[in-house]
Amino acid sequence: MSGNRNTLMGCSLGGVLLALLALHSLPQSSEGSNILGVFTSHSPSHFIVHMSIMKTLAEKGHNVTVVSSVPPKVTHKSIKHIVLPLRDEDEKMIHGGMVDMVKQKPSIWTTMKSILGSLSLLINTQVDTLEDKRFTDLYNNKDNKFDVLFVGFFFNTYQVGLGAKFNCPLIISWMSPPLSMVNELIGNPELSSVPQMQISVAAGKPMNFQQRVANFFSTAGFGLLGKILDHRYKGFYERLWGDDKNMPSLETAKKNVSLVFCNSHGISEGPVRPNVPAIIEIGGIQVKSKPDPLPEDIKEFMDNAKNGAILFSLGSNLKAEYFKPEVVSTIYKTLSSLKQRVIWKWEDPKNTPGKSANILYKKWLPQDDILAHPKLKLFITHAGKGGMAEAQYHGVPMLALPVFADQPGNADKIVENGYGLRLELTSLDVKEFKEAINEIVNNPKYAKKVQTFSKLYRDRPQTPQESVVYWTEYVIRHHGAPHMQSPLVHMGIIASNNLDIYVLVALALYLIFLINKVVWTFLWRKCTGKSKKAPQNKKVKKQ
Ligand SMILES: *[C@@H]1O[C@H](CO)[C@@H](O)[C@H](O)[C@H]1NC(C)=O
Ligand SMILES: *[C@@H]1O[C@H](CO)[C@@H](O)[C@H](O)[C@H]1NC(C)=O
Repeated sequence: MSGNRNTLMGCSLGGVLLALLALHSLPQSSEGSNILGVFTSHSPSHFIVHMSIMKTLAEKGHNVTVVSSVPPKVTHKSIKHIVLPLRDEDEKMIHGGMVDMVKQKPSIWTTMKSILGSLSLLINTQVDTLEDKRFTDLYNNKDNKFDVLFVGFFFNTYQVGLGAKFNCPLIISWMSPPLSMVNELIGNPELSSVPQMQISVAAGKPMNFQQRVANFFSTAGFGLLGKILDHRYKGFYERLWGDDKNMPSLETAKKNVSLVFCNSHGISEGPVRPNVPAIIEIGGIQVKSKPDPLPEDIKEFMDNAKNGAILFSLGSNLKAEYFKPEVVSTIYKTLSSLKQRVIWKWEDPKNTPGKSANILYKKWLPQDDILAHPKLKLFITHAGKGGMAEAQYHGVPMLALPVFADQPGNADKIVENGYGLRLELTSLDVKEFKEAINEIVNNPKYAKKVQTFSKLYRDRPQTPQESVVYWTEYVIRHHGAPHMQSPLVHMGIIASNNLDIYVLVALALYLIFLINKVVWTFLWRKCTGKSKKAPQNKKVKKQ
C-alpha cells in the first residue's frame, strides 16, 4: 500500500517537475500587458473595427487604454476610454461635407475630390486630438508604460512617431484590404499588375483591359496622393514633436512599424495579391461568431415576419438628413408596399418618413445580430466594408446603394460575385427599387452564392480573434518584429523600382554597342582596305 503511495507521490512529483520545465521553456507570458489604442479617425465604422480588436485583447486579460474622437459603440468593462471630441464647428463642417458628397453620383473623381477637399478637415482634426493635454499626459506621465501601441490608419501616417514617443512597438489597424499608403509602411509591394483593393476581379478570371487601365491609373493616383500627403505629414510631425530632440525623423519612424492588421480576407473575398508577413488579415473581426440575443421588440418583429424580414441601413456615417427628401420618400413608398417586414435604421424616431405596419424604425440597431436572424432575407446597404462583411459572414444577400469612398467598389464586388444587385441612390425610383428587392428575395441564386461564400469566409486556421491575440502577443514577446520586416521598407524609390539596374543595363548595352561599333569599323576598314583595289576596278571599268 505504502509503496503504492510512494510511486504515486513520485509520479506527481515528476509530473510537477515536468510541468515546471514545460512552463520554463514556454515563451515568456505576455498576459496582462499594457496596450494603448489611438484611434483619431472620425469614422464610427472604422472605430467599430478598431474597438473589436481592443475588445478581443481586453477579453484575453490585457490592460487596454483607448483614445478616440468618437464615443465607442463596442466596449468592454475593463477598457479605459479617453474620448476627445472634435470642436463643434469642425463637427458641423464635416457634416456639411457629407451632405455635398451624398448628393453626387459616386465616381473615382468625387472620391478623389472628397479625399482632397472636405476630408482635408478629417485629416487636420486628427492632429488636434494628439495635441490635447489628456492625450499628451499619457506619455508625459512616466508611470505609464505601454507594451504595444495601436494606431488606426486614416491618412495619418505621421502618427507612426508615437512608437518612439511611447518607446514601444507599433501596430497599425486598417479597416480594409491592404492600401498603398499602408503597404508603404511595411514594404508590401505595390505593382500595377496586382489588383488594388477597389478593383474586383471574379475568381478564375484575368483583369480585363478596362480594369487594368483603372488599376494602372489608380496605382499612380494613390502614389501621387501619397506624395502630396507626405508633405502635409511632415508639417504635422514638426508641429507635434518638432521641439523634441529625442524624436527620430519622420522617415526613421516610418521604418519601425511591426505589423498591420487588415480587416480583409483575400483568399475568400479578394483581391488575391501577394502580401508580406507583416500583413495580418483579420477580416470580420467585428462579427461575433455567436450572436447576442436581440432586443425584445426587434426579436418579436422578426420572429413574426411571415414573409421574412429586410434590414435597411445606410451605415453610421450617413444620416437621413443628408439625403434629398425625394429620395427618402421613394424609399418609404417602396418599403411600405412590401409584404416583408422592414427594419429601417433611422436617426430620428420621432420624425419618421411615414408610419407603416411593416416598418420598424430604429436609431441604433444590433446589425450583426439582426443579420444572423434566420428570417432575414435581404440587407439593403450603402456597401460599407463593415456591414458587408457581416452580411457575408451570415450569408445574407444584399442590395447596394453606394455613396462614396470604397462603397462603389464594394458594391461592384457584390454584383460581380452574385451576392446581390446595385442601384444608384441619387436616381432611385420606386419601380426599379421594388423590382430589385423582389428579384433578390425571390430568386434563390443570390442567397446561394453568398452562403457558399460564407462557408469559405469562415474556414480559416485561426479565427480573426485568435489571430489578433496571437500576433499582438508575438509583438509584445519579441518587443517588435523587425526580423520579419520586408527589405523594401529600407529601400528608396530607386532601389525598390530597380531604376539603377535599368541604368546599368542601359550602360552595358551602350558599351556593347560601342565595342561592336569599334569592331565593325575595324572590320569595315579591313574590307574597305581590301576594296582599295576598288579604284583599280573602277579604273578597270573605266578602261
Ligand atoms: C493599466 O494601464 C493604465 C494606463 O497606462 C495604468 O495607469 C494602469 O496602472 C494599468 N493597470 C494595471 C493593472 O497595470
Ligand atoms: C522602434 O520601435 C521600438 C520598439 O519595437 C521602440 O522602442 C523604438 O522607440 C522605436 N524607434 C523609433 C525610431 O521609432
